[in-house]
Amino acid sequence: SGALGNPLRPAILAAARSPRIKSAITRAPVTRGLVTRFVAGQDRSDALAAARAILDSGRSVSVDHLGEDTTDLAGARATLAEYRQLLRELGEQPEADAGTGVRRLEVSVKLSALGLALPRDGRQVALEHAHALCEAAQAAGVWVSVDAEDHTTTEITLELVTQLRADFPWLGAVVQAYLRRTEWDCRELASAHSRVRLCKGAYREPESVAYQRRSEVDASYLRCLETLMRGPGYPMVASHDPAVVARTQELVQQVGRGSAEFEHQMLYGIRDVEQVRLAGLGDQVRVYVPYGSQWYGYFMRRLAERPANLTFFLRSALTH
Ligand code: FDA
Repeated sequence: SGALGNPLRPAILAAARSPRIKSAITRAPVTRGLVTRFVAGQDRSDALAAARAILDSGRSVSVDHLGEDTTDLAGARATLAEYRQLLRELGEQPEADAGTGVRRLEVSVKLSALGLALPRDGRQVALEHAHALCEAAQAAGVWVSVDAEDHTTTEITLELVTQLRADFPWLGAVVQAYLRRTEWDCRELASAHSRVRLCKGAYREPESVAYQRRSEVDASYLRCLETLMRGPGYPMVASHDPAVVARTQELVQQVGRGSAEFEHQMLYGIRDVEQVRLAGLGDQVRVYVPYGSQWYGYFMRRLAERPANLTFFLRSALTH
């Protein structure tokens, strides 16, 4: 199999970065209906409604305000303000954590949306904004994870997460199995109670830093999974892959982890029936719920993942 199994993946991920294609696709009327398969909606109220339904079905949530590559300070401040309001409103939801200490409410955030890519003082701005966001989360009784972006940000993102964990030990880190460095990162991050989300990785990365073949990425994922499951942290197994889900359950048996000591994670709108099935078995399942007007990059990464998603998109585009 080729690059992550989808021959069109490099082209779609390149299009995800093209302003011209972005404007064509976001203005096409057909896109709207398709986007709602993967995105809860444009407004915070849409995200809250989706979160409520997911909580009521016995699953947990991580809500993500879509926005990345903020290149001005005003944008970064607006992102923080949106998250603060989101956290206030999430904090009003009855949570019911079943006494396990695991929070059923989480938000996910990208440091680039908080100002990491600003030409001046990006690192400091992102750190201050993330700190303020974590304080608001703590007050609301909500957890936070910091999403992993492209490989140019991996080092600085993990550094800032480690720094923030001094004040907010529950802060979640995210690692991507397609990166060659990630096995090492998994060992570094595996301290007591450390929350680590393991995903395969969604960006287009050069061979020098990332495995290119699906089989290599899958093998790396399983090695990282084993490290995290045997370690002292709290693994968050983010994948729709049946092989990953099966291996997770094997490892849980082998190492004797309780159901409050790890979780499955899947994306909103993907394998919903499987999510409900796993929750029905007594496992924790967290659903990543994105919302907002900046859905283009997120949507294109979902199309790139799965030829079936793209076929669906093109077929609808042609028949409208
Ligand atoms: P993959 O795409 O390899 O699919 C494997 C198999 O899963 C398929 O062969 C099929 O059997 C099954 N499958 C997949 N989609 C299906 C569908 N729609 N219906 C039925 N079966 C399906 N990435 C990143 O770079 N940074 C991040 O911070 C995050 N965060 C994140 C959070 C969460 C909760 C998730 C689930 C994922 C992410 N990701 C991410 C995305 C991740 O890196 C990756 O791109 C996608 O999850 C796709 O990889 P999978 O592991 O799901 O399997």
